Amino acid sequence: MQSNIRIVSFTDEKMQTLIPQIAQLRIEVFKEYPFLYIGDYEYEKKYLQKFATMKDAIVVAAFDNNAPIGMSTGYPFNYEADGLKQVFLANNRNPSDYFCFGESVLRKTYRGQGIGKVFCNEREAHVRKLGKYRYICFYTSMRPLDDPRRPADYRPLAPFWQSRGFKEHPELIGTVSYQEIGEDSESPKKMIFWIKEL
Ligand SMILES: CC(C)(COP(=O)(O)OP(=O)(O)OC[C@H]1O[C@@H](n2cnc3c(N)ncnc32)[C@H](O)[C@@H]1OP(=O)(O)O)[C@@H](O)C(=O)NCCC(=O)NCCS
Repeated sequence: MQSNIRIVSFTDEKMQTLIPQIAQLRIEVFKEYPFLYIGDYEYEKKYLQKFATMKDAIVVAAFDNNAPIGMSTGYPFNYEADGLKQVFLANNRNPSDYFCFGESVLRKTYRGQGIGKVFCNEREAHVRKLGKYRYICFYTSMRPLDDPRRPADYRPLAPFWQSRGFKEHPELIGTVSYQEIGEDSESPKKMIFWIKEL
């Protein structure tokens, strides 16, 4: 990793100072495949604000000198939408046992230097220190392998998550609604969960 890169974890209201810049980053990275998400700056700011109000949440941010170039989030799964928690309950899993990794976003030119691994390590260390959660989960969009929008150079992240100790759970599929590039309005998208036992 370049020596000018700094990675800092925020678990208190100081994370609010980052919101305008990381809102912009989310819009930039989530435009890409597989998300194809049309971000709205004001919505993104509000979305990020909620982490500052969640007990036990964490935002890990990477800076090049003082400019944010990436960030990742984590929060207790109990803060998730009821529909997603229901997927766990229907599979005899208690949502209170889970800490959820939110997004990890990193500007393209900084990828492949180990920053994503530090994002995972920092969040996992935070969860272990809290000592209240047995599992870490996250969910990701399901796209068919032959999706015509998939760029030729796209590298699936499954090997990355497997190397961090996560396992995909095809029995845990939920939906999240958002507006995709090419859509006129929001529509439900299928999400599949991955879990790591601590
Ligand atoms: C996910 C993400 C934050 C990872 O960050 P990163 O700093 O590139 O990751 P690292 O360098 O720590 O590790 C990358 C590992 O995954 C692999 N990898 C898979 N896809 C990759 C990609 N597109 N770019 C770089 N590495 C990739 C690498 O081989 C590497 O493994 P190795 O060190 O064993 O070779 C970054 O790729 C990103 O922002 N992607 C777009 C957004 C996204 O998909 N987020 C995840 C869901 S929210």
